[in-house]
Amino acid sequence: MEKTIEQINQEALNELETASDMESIRALSVRYLGRKGIITRFLRNISKLPPEERPIAGKKANETKKTLDKIFKDALDRLETATADATDRIDVSLPGRMVLAGSLHPITQINRLICDIFTNLGFDIVEGPEVETDYYNFEALNIPKNHPARDMQDTFYISDNIVLRTHTSPVQIRTMEKQTPPVRIIAPGKVYRCDSDLTHTPMFHQVEGLLVDENVSFGDLKGILTTFVHRMFDEQISLRFRPSFFPFTEPSAEVDILCVICRGKGCRVCSQTGWLEVLGAGMVHPALFENIGYDTARYTGFAFGMGVERIAMLKYGIDDIRKYFDNDLRFLRQF
Ligand code: PHE
Repeated sequence: MEKTIEQINQEALNELETASDMESIRALSVRYLGRKGIITRFLRNISKLPPEERPIAGKKANETKKTLDKIFKDALDRLETATADATDRIDVSLPGRMVLAGSLHPITQINRLICDIFTNLGFDIVEGPEVETDYYNFEALNIPKNHPARDMQDTFYISDNIVLRTHTSPVQIRTMEKQTPPVRIIAPGKVYRCDSDLTHTPMFHQVEGLLVDENVSFGDLKGILTTFVHRMFDEQISLRFRPSFFPFTEPSAEVDILCVICRGKGCRVCSQTGWLEVLGAGMVHPALFENIGYDTARYTGFAFGMGVERIAMLKYGIDDIRKYFDNDLRFLRQF
């Protein structure tokens, strides 16, 4: 027997020093302790020793086998926990995950801007129901049954007498029923029409305005709306009042602003007219006052209504109203 068990043990330990991965430790274990391993062979050869040496050599070899086995196993265990630790460990040099802040929907932003402009002009904010009776949505606004003006608005009927409000004008009636002049309110809210295309959605937002007092003239209406348009778009923008018709106002007008895209030259957005419609307005029809019980000899008033999505489209240069309702974050994040 050339080598003593101590030498073999020492060599095994030396080799373990240089084994850096689990694979080479396993190979080492096989090489020393496997069926054809160095120590196994040593044990087999013990029979060739002189009889008196056999018990001690056998005992030593078996002990060495046991301790080496444990040393290899421990080394493997240590490596295993070390690699597991490394995978779990947080790499502090990696860039952090961005926390996205939420923001207000562009329609909410514009709605608030409209409300701010009018509250600064002394208007109060009131609200009314979205499910409305035929009376408030039509009848009290001087739109009797079978009146052709009903065709202007594609109404969602819930029953014969109940509708989803097609405009915020019913809030005019509800306010005047509760309040004596002076009245100076705006009514923001959702409205519904059975209509859907590039510039129409079945639900959209309007802001209604109503001012009633003594000596209110069309000049006051022009002044208030001019101030509004200048604050909303820009101080320089031109606007015009174009004669129009609404059953609940007389005279009635639609307000146009000079096209914000082409500045009046004519383009696709303004259908080559150079103007964009932003509002409906007029002097409150005396029939409404009579119905409410306001003194028509003493009081006059004006009313106006605008679509929030439309204002937002013009302000931001967006040509498809449906983008506001797609909930595409890439679109919404721009505001
Ligand atoms: N209610 C009208 C509409 O929805 C707008 C309007 C309001 C016009 C008030 C005049 C006065 O079209």
